Amino acid sequence: MSAGLKGIKTIRDFELAGKTVFLRLDLNVPLEGTRITDETRITASLPTINYCLEKGAKLIIASHLGRPKSAADKKYSMEPVARRLTELLNREVVLMEEPSSDGVKHILYGNMKDQIICLENLRFDAGETENSTELALQWASYTDIYINDAFGASHRAHASIQAFPEIMQRKAGIGFLIEKEIKMLDSLLDNPKKPYIAVLGGSKISDKIDVIEKLIDVVDGFVIGGAMAYTFLKAQNVPVGKSLVETDKLKYAKEMIQRVEARQKTMLLPVDHIVSTEFNNVQNKKMTTSASIAENDMGLDIGPQTIKNFSAALAKAATIFWNGPMGVFETPAFSEGTFAIAKAIAESSGTKIVGGGDSAAAAEASGYAAKMTHISTGGGASLEYLQGEKLPGLEVLRPRKQSEIMP
Ligand code: 3PG
Repeated sequence: MSAGLKGIKTIRDFELAGKTVFLRLDLNVPLEGTRITDETRITASLPTINYCLEKGAKLIIASHLGRPKSAADKKYSMEPVARRLTELLNREVVLMEEPSSDGVKHILYGNMKDQIICLENLRFDAGETENSTELALQWASYTDIYINDAFGASHRAHASIQAFPEIMQRKAGIGFLIEKEIKMLDSLLDNPKKPYIAVLGGSKISDKIDVIEKLIDVVDGFVIGGAMAYTFLKAQNVPVGKSLVETDKLKYAKEMIQRVEARQKTMLLPVDHIVSTEFNNVQNKKMTTSASIAENDMGLDIGPQTIKNFSAALAKAATIFWNGPMGVFETPAFSEGTFAIAKAIAESSGTKIVGGGDSAAAAEASGYAAKMTHISTGGGASLEYLQGEKLPGLEVLRPRKQSEIMP
């Protein structure tokens, strides 16, 4: 049983009228120049923002954006996000380029009216990633209530995620997005409906070892695609040509296959592939007729028989967790496998939960996103949570003394 949200206050537990609410969001959206190419994280944050506004709070929105080296890295400015929020909320969102406490206080204690404050990229100040208490004290000097709704950043021990709520103590809680994310992920950990299938893909086994270890005793079967499948195939002496293989994980992969079999569970691997001679070479694209890949070829997507096998297994599942694409789906010529599996997952009548990051992008690109039960907004955070790791952003919000635990 996971600790879930035990003891953590939610935004509903606070009286917000007239209070200054510091709302930590994950508005780390992909940008092309100043154009937001996917605003999922913004729209996913709207329920909490709107709730604060409806309740009459004075709102300060804060987020990181990308991984800037310093404040001079202007391409990571929150400006496009503040602009989009202004449109979506129909209220002026004022970007505080110098988010020192004085500037913010000036607006807060002046004539704030219907405005919303948006702090400039939190990572422009090194204190954010250093989990600086000094920086957190600055924010605390003007905050009444701290709300974390940044699920995607809650695995980071950063100032706005850990040091700040540590100071705010019981005047800190979570928003609606984190609440939903944790409930959804908990449904995969605590008595998931059977059969439960985990669909794992992406390039590396090493990125997924911890989650495989956690899931091996929970799931009924694994469906493995993407480049990580080539390491599993090679571990069984299947020729994989020039495909990406993690040689230092071959032993692990071989043992994993045996461990899955020993538990009388299934691990489906590709039985055919879409290959080419180089990563981006669409002209030399061909299909194999078996799991073997010729010496000069590399696997870039799963083949048609594999799609059939995987889809048949997914049709019987009552719970599906999907993390990682089946191939190089960003290249249309190698996207068919990933999109077909997205379709098979979408058509399942069971609970289907998609991890964030690449899988969320793949679900979106496939056109089947709306049919999923839940698509996480956090890539790293959702995996860490499923692996059983404690997220700093949640742990800091749990009461420390028994007497503080809510009924
Ligand atoms: C994400 O995109 O996964 C989150 O916003 C966290 O970003 P980070 O990996 O740069 O901390």
